[in-house]
Amino acid sequence: MKLLDKIGREFSGYNFVESGKRLFDRKPLQCSLYVTDRCNLDCAYCTEYDNSRPHPSLDDLKKWIRKIRELGTMRIALVGGEPLVHPNIVEVVRYCRGLGFATSLTTNGFLLTRKLVAELEDAGLQVMQISVDRMTPSPITKKSFKTILPKLDYFDNSKISLHITGVICADTLPESRAVLETGLSRGIPTEVRLVHADPLNRFRVDRGPREELERFIVVTNYSSSPRRENFGFAAWCIRTSTSWT
Ligand SMILES: C[S@@+](CC[C@H](N)C(=O)[O-])C[C@H]1O[C@@H](n2cnc3c(N)ncnc32)[C@H](O)[C@@H]1O
Ligand code: SF4
Repeated sequence: MKLLDKIGREFSGYNFVESGKRLFDRKPLQCSLYVTDRCNLDCAYCTEYDNSRPHPSLDDLKKWIRKIRELGTMRIALVGGEPLVHPNIVEVVRYCRGLGFATSLTTNGFLLTRKLVAELEDAGLQVMQISVDRMTPSPITKKSFKTILPKLDYFDNSKISLHITGVICADTLPESRAVLETGLSRGIPTEVRLVHADPLNRFRVDRGPREELERFIVVTNYSSSPRRENFGFAAWCIRTSTSWT
């Protein structure tokens, strides 16, 4: 798919008249909606899922989505838990697009099939962010290219723009560079971000030695600077330097 088509697709949710007016008001621009708290994985750094809770009904989701739109919100990011475990996720995407939202979805990718990607595309999904932390699974995180690489074919000629993001901690750091290079070499915007701060000690991960993380930042930043397609590195460095505590 051509770059201009992709850019057009990403911005097709925008009504530019509405956008212009938004320069002068204080309405929300973007909202992240947890379409479910449930998840099919158990990443050791995650506190954002809860399998004791049922999926919200499609009717409730539609009611909330309508309300979010009425508030003036223009972009909606469908997150969770794992959005793809919700049985009505395609309908949710279609509903968001019907209301004029620019719509993205963040997923661990495990439930992606060729058929589901085609259905999400048909429903109008514009951006899919797939989370990939390592090249191979580990006890800390199963989100790896071993699972995702064979699925990237599903997006050939798809209108959905792919993004890849990974989490950096002691377990993933040795593979973070390979994750960046693997995503970027396929033309997919790719970033890796430091695991969040954990003041309540709820995560089951070691964040990693600060010196090694700093060395990683310097090396990837230096080696990436001559190549335009490595903008993912730059984005990562900005996020990293602002989120380290
Ligand atoms: C909570 S997940 C929900 C969507 C989906 N289940 C997934 O993993 O992509 C959204 C994003 O937050 C990231 N994430 C979860 N816990 C995190 C943490 N403690 N620090 C940094 N990122 C985290 C995940 O890797 C994922 O990219
Ligand atoms: S897949 Fe996403 S929601 Fe599920 S445990 Fe991992 S980060 Fe959390």
